[in-house]
Amino acid sequence: MRKPVSFSGIQPSGVLHIGNYLGAITQWVESQNKHQNIFCVVDLHAITVPQNPKILKEKIYEIAAIYLAAGIDPKESIIFVQSQVPAHSELAWILNTISKMGELSRMTQFKDKTNKIKKESIPAGLFTYPTLMAADILLYNANLVPVGEDQKQHVELTRVLAQRFNHRFGKTFVVPEPVIRTSGARIMGLDNPEDKMSKSAASPANYIALTDKPEVIRKKIMRAVTDSGTKIKFDKKRKGLYNLLTIYKLFSGKTEAQIEKRFKGKGYSDFKKELADLIIKKLAPVQKKITHYMKNKKLLDRILADGAKRAEKIANPTLKEVKQKIGLIV
Ligand code: AMP
Ligand code: TRP
Repeated sequence: MRKPVSFSGIQPSGVLHIGNYLGAITQWVESQNKHQNIFCVVDLHAITVPQNPKILKEKIYEIAAIYLAAGIDPKESIIFVQSQVPAHSELAWILNTISKMGELSRMTQFKDKTNKIKKESIPAGLFTYPTLMAADILLYNANLVPVGEDQKQHVELTRVLAQRFNHRFGKTFVVPEPVIRTSGARIMGLDNPEDKMSKSAASPANYIALTDKPEVIRKKIMRAVTDSGTKIKFDKKRKGLYNLLTIYKLFSGKTEAQIEKRFKGKGYSDFKKELADLIIKKLAPVQKKITHYMKNKKLLDRILADGAKRAEKIANPTLKEVKQKIGLIV
């Protein structure tokens, strides 16, 4: 039987943090033998907000290096850069023609990203961002889309667009399902556990970057905001502590009961020290591999060119079928 196709993408902007790692990347690595995985570095999404060209290029490589360092096998999975497969832009355009202003205006990410910008100045690319994401997914007839909670609405819009297209032009697209990790789907900011850990946070104290050095990791964890309680317990109301415990749980693979037992009678500071040690230990081998790839860009270029070739073998026939169905000459 054919394995279900799983597609996911990550933007080469800002820093990748342990929220991305625990909420997205580890989930993908675990699923490699169950699914045909397709991993995309979505550079065209990144340019919907201004980017420095030199930094952008480094970040595109860095994301690819992180995927590989985290354990994604480029022989089993397809790993490629979005802009190296032109079918994404072409299908996005076609999907724009069946998308509605109303539904795009209702996207919460669009509202969040634009609420401080004057309406006349909002980049059109931010508005049509979800149709490009829909194109990414639909080109590969993906069954599954593993994402964090914040991206669920975009996958739902993708489903609507796939169904609308199928209804108007005949069955063409597979209607994909979002896959949301239940525990740790939302890692919160270390400086403010009310909001999710975010690469666009005002202060680096908000996140632990995958490339943070051990002493930086230790400092950030020791300074993470908690309440003035004493007991180490998974209590959703104690948001700061709950978040740190969730990070511990995901990195250690232990159950909540095991963790509570381990820290019985111990204070926040003991717990934080152990958490910092755990994160440092778990990230060390990944960090070593990231450095290896970043020093070897020719190798990355080769892996990505091969990925793009394999991606096109799936994407181009889908695009061709779409063009035929809507009456274009192919
Ligand atoms: P972004 O950093 O917004 O480009 O997101 C890249 C991937 O990581 C997406 O699947 C997000 O949903 C996921 N992600 C981002 N931030 C977090 C977070 N704080 N907790 C869990 N997952 C996250
Ligand atoms: N918008 C996603 C994010 O910011 C990234 C993304 C782009 C994506 N295309 C995708 C995720 C397709 C899953 C599938 O996280």
